[in-house]
Amino acid sequence: MRYAISYVSSAARDLSETEINDVLKESEIRNNQKDITGLLLYSEGNFFQVIEGEKEIIKSLYSDINKDSRHFNLIKLFEKTIQNEAYDGYKSDFISEDARYGRSDFKYYQHYLEVLDKPAKQATSQILRAFIQ
Ligand SMILES: Cc1cc2nc3c(=O)[nH]c(=O)nc-3n(C[C@H](O)[C@H](O)[C@H](O)COP(=O)(O)O)c2cc1C
Repeated sequence: MRYAISYVSSAARDLSETEINDVLKESEIRNNQKDITGLLLYSEGNFFQVIEGEKEIIKSLYSDINKDSRHFNLIKLFEKTIQNEAYDGYKSDFISEDARYGRSDFKYYQHYLEVLDKPAKQATSQILRAFIQ
């Protein structure tokens, strides 16, 4: 049985574009090494993240993320056990103004939420739409 947590947060006001990209890359590399799947997006001052994996690992990671001073105002969307098998990866991305009119694609990111059950997928899909459109 796997476990998932999803939240939205506000990026620290003084965070540069380079620092935002560091957060995204760092999480992508670490999570792919640790069998954690999900999605981390940044758009216009906000982060949206889903992390999914072994329960204790996910709880401990969320606790670390929660203390990270690079963001604040974390609002948890859900925290729950997931029946489905692990999906195939973790993705992070910076949604820039350009991407909104270009290659950003709802279906492409939704792919990373496939592991979630129906209510969780519905909740995150709505946030995801708001993030990329
Ligand atoms: C918005 C945001 C999302 C993050 N997501 C992850 C993540 O998914 N995986 C991860 O390992 N670290 C993530 N981090 C970084 C962690 O907060 C923390 O810096 C990292 O786990 C390193 O902790 P350590 O130095 O104690 O090992 C995130 C940070 C921020 C600000």
